[in-house]
Amino acid sequence: MDFYDVIKSRRSCRVFSDQPVEREKLERIVEAATWAPSGKNRQNCRVFVVTGQKKDELVSIADRSFPFIEESLKKLYDEKIVAFTRNFFRTLGGAPVLLVFYSAPTEEGHFVDTQSVSAAVENALLAATFEGLGTCWMTNPVHLRDEVDGILGVEGLDLVAFVPIGYPGKEPPTPPRKEGRVNWVGFD
Ligand SMILES: Cc1cc2nc3c(=O)[nH]c(=O)nc-3n(C[C@H](O)[C@H](O)[C@H](O)COP(=O)(O)O)c2cc1C
Repeated sequence: MDFYDVIKSRRSCRVFSDQPVEREKLERIVEAATWAPSGKNRQNCRVFVVTGQKKDELVSIADRSFPFIEESLKKLYDEKIVAFTRNFFRTLGGAPVLLVFYSAPTEEGHFVDTQSVSAAVENALLAATFEGLGTCWMTNPVHLRDEVDGILGVEGLDLVAFVPIGYPGKEPPTPPRKEGRVNWVGFD
């Protein structure tokens, strides 16, 4: 896959197979995350690679976070998509591993810190695509951040995202991209 194929073939995967993920792949993916740029090079991103019992406990938090997204989903999507998403939140699609991204807050402030972690998340998503793995960037569990922190024994960090990861169980649909979102200024 060339670079642009990786970018365009990354999809939000919400159905995973139970095939285990090789440790070396996970190591390359989280290392890619650490190579993202960060505001003033503060390298404030922290990643937890979680499986087993702790992963199951975090999945149950994702499940309980669904009501926070339900109304806005209903406004945007039809019943079938809402039901599918509801089901996805119950199990995180059966993903064998969960990456949890945090920010270690700096004096740069939330705006910069969160963008730095977001860059790391995207690096991980693209690396996973390159490795043949599926991912789904999720922010909704942030509504229950205190419980997530409790499970992982975290103090003094800000939860940014959950990323379930595993081999795709089903090819995800490709939502079309909207045109007209780029403005060229000063070009003939
Ligand atoms: C910041 C952010 C938060 C997201 N949160 C969720 C989420 O909580 N649950 C979910 O199922 N998908 C979530 N997504 C995935 C988007 O729904 C998805 O990227 C979008 O529908 C486009 O589909 P694609 O990723 O396959 O191109 C999130 C994506 C981003 C970038």
